[in-house]
Amino acid sequence: MQMIIDFIFKLIFIATVFHLSEALGELTSVVDGNPLELTATSLDVFIDQLPDLALFHANSNFFSGTISPNIAKLPYLYELDISNNLFSGPFPSAILGMNTLSFLDIRFNLFTGSIPPQLFTKDLDILFVNNNNFIQQLAEILGNSHILYLTLANNKFFGPIPRTIAKYFSGLSEVLLLNNMLSGCLPYELGFLTETVVFDAGNNLLTGPIPFSLGCLKKAEVVNFAGNLLYGGVPEVVCAMANLANLSLSDNYFNQVGPICRGLIKKGVLDARNNCIRGLPGQRSLAECMAFFSKPRYCSYRQTYRYLPCWFPHFSGSRTGLTEPAPAPF
Ligand SMILES: *[C@@H]1O[C@H](CO)[C@@H](O)[C@H](O)[C@H]1NC(C)=O
Repeated sequence: MQMIIDFIFKLIFIATVFHLSEALGELTSVVDGNPLELTATSLDVFIDQLPDLALFHANSNFFSGTISPNIAKLPYLYELDISNNLFSGPFPSAILGMNTLSFLDIRFNLFTGSIPPQLFTKDLDILFVNNNNFIQQLAEILGNSHILYLTLANNKFFGPIPRTIAKYFSGLSEVLLLNNMLSGCLPYELGFLTETVVFDAGNNLLTGPIPFSLGCLKKAEVVNFAGNLLYGGVPEVVCAMANLANLSLSDNYFNQVGPICRGLIKKGVLDARNNCIRGLPGQRSLAECMAFFSKPRYCSYRQTYRYLPCWFPHFSGSRTGLTEPAPAPF
């Protein structure tokens, strides 16, 4: 019922939708012959003329500059899309004054600095901030978030993946953390991301072993940890995931794979190139591996790496002595 009401509202609002691409002629006159620069003043003109604006889609232009604080005066605006432009500087604080916003897309810009924590206290359902230059601890972002769909890839988010990750991402089918500067060891709580189909943490600075619990991502089809500092054995229970189509572990320091994982390599599902696995082709040089392992490496909560928070035939239970049941995540 709620969905139908939402839909009807959307239809009503669509009457006042402002698609910038269609209105480019108007824009040209507004900004005095330079349609490619949305400035605070030009946006103010739109805001004055279109007080009923509900959706603002200005994606894929060459807009730069800042967002007018007057945007907060649009009482019905619930979707703001300024993605794929050249906006730069800190997070546009004007957005913090927008109380009706449920969809915010600022991805593919040049924003820097951090995302203000106030943003996460809003009723945002969808937030796309990927492909900017935000520099911030991941834990700070997830700290208060209730956002249903959040994309963080291709920024400079740093620090460890918080142990509370499942609290924020457990409903998400895609967890995209790739191309950031995340560091530290992987928490076993990743195993509680039961809805995840795509988990991508490629190209970060993550280290330590892969927790067995990852094998509990029952819906996972694509798992990417390529280009990190992970090491140890690749857990067989992870290679045994039923729906796995692409497990990318290349460019790490893994040094062991069992028969199930070797089967995946043969099938082209597991990419384990450029690691330290003896007997496999395309591995790092012995010198490179020795240099890596000559430094002491340590993850706390050692015992948690064998936790298995789901039932897995052949792996679960005391018979193998390999795994332990896991405590609740939070
Ligand atoms: C598997 O995933 C990796 C990382 O996301 C990607 O680069 C690669 O192209 C994928 N391989 C296939 C066969 O889809």
